[in-house]
Amino acid sequence: MRYINQLPESAKHDEITQTHRKLQTWVNQNKKGFLRYRNPYEGLRQFPAKFVNCDSDWVTIGAEEELTNTERQEVESHLQTFIPWRKGPFSVFGVDVDSEWQSQRKWQRLVDFLPDMEGKIVADIGCSNGYYMFRMVPHKPKIVIGFEPSVQHYYCFKALNSMAGIENLHIDLLGVEHLSLFPECFDVLFLMGIIYHRSSPVECLRDIFSSLRPGGTLILESQALPGESEIALFPEKTYAKVPGTYFVPTGNCLKNWLKRAGFKDIDIFCQHPMSSIEQRRTDWMSFESYADFTDPADSGKTIEGYPAPDRVFIRARKK
Ligand SMILES: C[S@@+](CC[C@H](N)C(=O)[O-])C[C@H]1O[C@@H](n2cnc3c(N)ncnc32)[C@H](O)[C@@H]1O
Repeated sequence: MRYINQLPESAKHDEITQTHRKLQTWVNQNKKGFLRYRNPYEGLRQFPAKFVNCDSDWVTIGAEEELTNTERQEVESHLQTFIPWRKGPFSVFGVDVDSEWQSQRKWQRLVDFLPDMEGKIVADIGCSNGYYMFRMVPHKPKIVIGFEPSVQHYYCFKALNSMAGIENLHIDLLGVEHLSLFPECFDVLFLMGIIYHRSSPVECLRDIFSSLRPGGTLILESQALPGESEIALFPEKTYAKVPGTYFVPTGNCLKNWLKRAGFKDIDIFCQHPMSSIEQRRTDWMSFESYADFTDPADSGKTIEGYPAPDRVFIRARKK
């Protein structure tokens, strides 16, 4: 956890260290569920890349000619152990990992609305395999800390970055619920694809507000209901087949939540309908995807009969 010394004094250094150690003791056990991801990570870290490019849609780690065919096959088979690949795309020593989500589209929608990140402390909460963290690199942040409690995604990022060797990108097995250990720590915080999974979304936004430094910026992205009204849907069990979905707000409802949490300068800078162009089945994610989550007879409805989701993007500031 090399990031600890880079945090401001306001961070609860001792508690972060204790939490980190506890989680490391847990994940370092020699249990099948951990080894299935730790072993490919150990395998992939033997291949440090010379060429790395985070500035294009396909995050590129290693050029094809850096490895022999046998080595490339080894890399490919390790990468396959992280299937399903949700976020990407990545190109790793010439192996093209076409993920379920075309995450570059989300990045393209928000990149023009980012604050200056040069020299800044950035957090990506629920960072998955770190696709967006890699895309932040050309913006020259001081550090980016990815919070990610999923062991699969955690090791997937570690594997990718052990090859890419980008020293200011960090990940820890933390969740949004650990933000109280980081008071007034972050200049920029990304919360994307998370808020509708929280049973108390306003509490979550208050925690985020507290973890931002004065003048800090939140980039929030969420599933949203279409329309202008100020409402949120609370599904009985699932929304678009996804369990663990609590409140799906309209953009204006989300704005109201942010206001109540203390944010200022709240700007909805993009809203668009979801589609199966953006989230789809690929060779690297062979399970159900967006097309299976909507009503085959009416693309405006989810399979449960709720309005089909938009995605909404908001930038908000802590004064
Ligand atoms: C829908 S994905 C969004 C991933 C990415 N932020 C994006 O926008 O594409 C939700 C992510 O949050 C992670 N997650 C699950 N529980 C979490 C928690 N309590 N705190 C933070 N992240 C969590 C999941 O493992 C997953 O990587």
